[in-house]
Amino acid sequence: MSTAFDEKIMRQLLALSMSEQGRTLPNPMVAAAVVQEGVIIATGVHQKSGEAHAEVLALAAAGNLSKGATVYVTLEPCTHMGKTPPCVDALIQAGVREVVFAMEDPNPQVQERSAEEALSNAGILVRKGICREEAREYNRVFVTNMTHNRPYITLKSAISKDMKIAEAPQKLTQITGPVANEDVHKLRRSCDGILVGIGTILIDNPRLNCRLTETESSQDNPRPIIIDPDLRLSEDALFWTIARRQVRPRTNDEPSSKPIIVTRNKHNSKQATVITWDSPDPISFEWIWKQLYSLGFCHILIEGGQGVTTELLSQGEWDEWVVYQSNQVLGPHGVDLIESSSVSWESISAMPVFKKEPMGTEMKTIYRNSLGVRKR
Ligand SMILES: NC(=O)c1ccc[n+]([C@@H]2O[C@H](COP(=O)([O-])OP(=O)(O)OC[C@H]3O[C@@H](n4cnc5c(N)ncnc54)[C@H](OP(=O)(O)O)[C@@H]3O)[C@@H](O)[C@H]2O)c1
Repeated sequence: MSTAFDEKIMRQLLALSMSEQGRTLPNPMVAAAVVQEGVIIATGVHQKSGEAHAEVLALAAAGNLSKGATVYVTLEPCTHMGKTPPCVDALIQAGVREVVFAMEDPNPQVQERSAEEALSNAGILVRKGICREEAREYNRVFVTNMTHNRPYITLKSAISKDMKIAEAPQKLTQITGPVANEDVHKLRRSCDGILVGIGTILIDNPRLNCRLTETESSQDNPRPIIIDPDLRLSEDALFWTIARRQVRPRTNDEPSSKPIIVTRNKHNSKQATVITWDSPDPISFEWIWKQLYSLGFCHILIEGGQGVTTELLSQGEWDEWVVYQSNQVLGPHGVDLIESSSVSWESISAMPVFKKEPMGTEMKTIYRNSLGVRKR
């Protein structure tokens, strides 16, 4: 049973966990609090894979005051030996009275032995499921990774009032204003890969890095992924210079921080990791996600031009679509968002809206594929 107090604390912790969004990958975002007689004594936020978990940080900050306390945590404490020892052991050793957690851990390693069982056997009270659905929503990237063994896919589009993505073919067009641009850079920070098609590289020459004034750090740069079937990419493309000075890997055991090129041609490169699609058919996004997941990618942001957006929507291989729509009209010479012989405008306009909010001078609309975590 949960009380209003339980829910208030859990919501505070979920919001706190967001401070490390993107930086904890491949781990989930987690925050914890040690509470004595209704007062928060200490909090902890997990920061990076391989480093201390939130419960352990909160217990350390609370010191002796952990004895007899209630520990709130947004994710079921781990029971297995991973890169760090099991959190249930730390909770037992600290002598806490009760543990309250939001969502069960979908990690199959944890499911072998539940925290509830381990803690109850040690005489600790356990309550679970407080704000469970909210916690799963916050950690939808992790839930997708664990249950479907693939990255979570976010597509971003900036469109005009008349659904164009550029003023004319081959023309770099700025559609969004500063507030929406800042929001896009937050999206970039939340992901570990950023995917574009070769068309966008050749026309826009984007840097593909994360530029947020208050926290700009090369650790927040996602790794570039370029779909370049016929290897038209030049060594002068701007993203290479950013990629070279990126401080990655973010996780301690990630084998490489090189950009990825997805192509149809066999190719050796010192600068990039090349993955090759051996067929004249359009490259399957399901196949790309499988390759990228095996390379450690958890959350891919796609900044699609017309070609990538059309192919992705027609294959249905996305989870979330973030659309920023401006009030400007680009007119009949503009480049359409999609190539309508492959995807119908009707199917797009029939998509149910998950969330809609003004974002500076633009309207931001979020769609979810099947309004939830995809089944596959
Ligand atoms: N407003 C926005 O949000 C936004 C974002 C990005 C780009 N843009 C604009 O979009 C325009 C570029 O669009 P675009 O259509 O030329 O470029 P694009 O979508 O960036 O890239 C398209 C190319 O990528 C390859 N490709 C993508 N998916 C593929 C798949 N599944 N299988 C095989 N090949 C695949 C194809 O390359 P090949 O041709 O080599 O086969 C295709 O021509 C530019 O004007 C840019 O400014 C707008």
